[in-house]
Amino acid sequence: MCSIIGYYGKENASPILVKGLKRMEYRGYDSVGVATESENEIKLKKGIGKVNEVNSKVQLDTLPGKIGIGHTRWATHGRVTELNAHPHPSNSGKIAIVHNGIIENFEELKKELETDGYDFKSETDSEVIVNLLQKNYEITKDVKKTILKTVSEIKGHYAFVAMFENGQLAAARFHEPLIIGVGQDDFFLSSDVLGFIEFTDNAIYLENGNFVIIDKDKFQVLDFDGNNPGYGITKVSKEFGDAYKGDYAHFTLKEIYEQNETILKAGEKAIDAIEKAAENIKDAQNIYVTGSGTSYNSALIAKQILSKYVKIKAEPIMSSELQFSPETIEENSIFIAISQSGESADVLDAVRIAKKANCRIIAIVNLLTSSLAREADIVIGMNCGPEIGVAATKSFTSQLVILYKIVQKISNNEITIDFKEFSKSISKTLDNPTKIQQIAKELKDISDIYILGRGINYPIAKEAALKLKELTYIHAEGIPGGELKHGPLALMDSNVYVIIINPSDSTYSDTLTSAREIKARGAKIIGISDIESNIYDYWIEIPKINEVLYPISEIVPIQLLSYYAALEKETDPDYPRNLAKSVTVK
Ligand code: F6R
Repeated sequence: MCSIIGYYGKENASPILVKGLKRMEYRGYDSVGVATESENEIKLKKGIGKVNEVNSKVQLDTLPGKIGIGHTRWATHGRVTELNAHPHPSNSGKIAIVHNGIIENFEELKKELETDGYDFKSETDSEVIVNLLQKNYEITKDVKKTILKTVSEIKGHYAFVAMFENGQLAAARFHEPLIIGVGQDDFFLSSDVLGFIEFTDNAIYLENGNFVIIDKDKFQVLDFDGNNPGYGITKVSKEFGDAYKGDYAHFTLKEIYEQNETILKAGEKAIDAIEKAAENIKDAQNIYVTGSGTSYNSALIAKQILSKYVKIKAEPIMSSELQFSPETIEENSIFIAISQSGESADVLDAVRIAKKANCRIIAIVNLLTSSLAREADIVIGMNCGPEIGVAATKSFTSQLVILYKIVQKISNNEITIDFKEFSKSISKTLDNPTKIQQIAKELKDISDIYILGRGINYPIAKEAALKLKELTYIHAEGIPGGELKHGPLALMDSNVYVIIINPSDSTYSDTLTSAREIKARGAKIIGISDIESNIYDYWIEIPKINEVLYPISEIVPIQLLSYYAALEKETDPDYPRNLAKSVTVK
């Protein structure tokens, strides 16, 4: 999604805003802009591209003034053009806005404003908000009344920061994240603490339906009825500011390499919550597990391990689908929501549906200050540190470890897992990337790749396809092994590569047979297995381990393969085209 930022203080605003935007670039990165207020005038620069590219072209960070706003965009309304980039000035040029989210009634509002004589330069819904602010400010002559009137007129999900020519900042939140950073002599407004963590660790998580006005070195928080709702200041973990690549070429590579440690840390600070979750799951009549993208693949694995190891039935639900069948949720059930960011709109909507059915919500989440964590009854932190690369890597393996720990607890620790030994085996895979790098070279010019797995390895095939798609833009598809002859076999020929996920578990011989059938059609086979076979054109060895851990052992080399294939194809592994790290709109 887009990131928004605001600064009000004693320092020059524009370099601080550019730094914050750079750190939040994972949220959206097709265009960027900054506006500042100086001597009662709004100055603005923007352009298409990433923060550093645009900054070196137009020097965003040289705009004068101690108050300012900034934005990185992930296009929703309107193409990627300079005119559609934020900030957007109002027609009078006396107000500018940065906005994240979607205004549902923007067409209606736009027509009304056009009738009033306003004209629009961009295709965005955001420009409607800023002109509505101008219209309301001209009527009320007061920032507070202007915001109250404007939020009563717009419908949708949004967070915006508006800067007025007189140097006042106002920011409102409705179902999109907005955080106030409170420094010594300055204030920050941001979509993510990463926007200001370098300057202050005091954060106010603005509640939904609240807004803030910053003026004359003071701030005032109000709700959409104009009442004082109160607020709390949270000390944010500095660890979340620790988002540097270090010696790694990309965040994605760094995050893949952190996994030997993050699997040991997963759920480490949530022992009580894991125990509580296990008790609740044991006693529940109905259990649902939801997530989107990679987190949904974790939900599929949750179903498998709960049934296999503790004989508990759980239904995985793709978060974005639940709205079409909310009646499937039985009252008073357990609803497990998995999300790295805790801000995915689809997941939050699914949780709202579950709450209406009186479900108890267990959140498995990385960002403990996220909306999901605040909505949940039981919160289990992934504890894997910030994940900046847009493709989920370490958060996925941390989610799986937490699910294993819950299952272990339910089994009264009958299932034993030596995570320390396992971490060593992951280090071994990570320390030997040469073969994977060679295979990545082979993938450079291919257009299709299929990944085949059975049983618990099928969700890994799906996750592998997701990683390959996102990082390399190669068409990739996960295939359940048993379905091969029911259709996908028609696709196999000598132009195709197939990754066979084949650990020595109960799926081994059936999957080897599938590999043989595919090979007979001329396709190249990459085998991921702890047993070598001459059927594989390339063998990626994984350790022979406790079979519950195979999914993690399998996905780590595929993450590496996707990363190195991205380098071969010269795509940017950290920022895949058209994607954003946290999808806070539907
Ligand atoms: C895939 C990926 C996405 C996310 C999905 C859910 O690599 O990153 O598919 O997994 O958008 O995000 P969270 O887990 O933040 O809810």
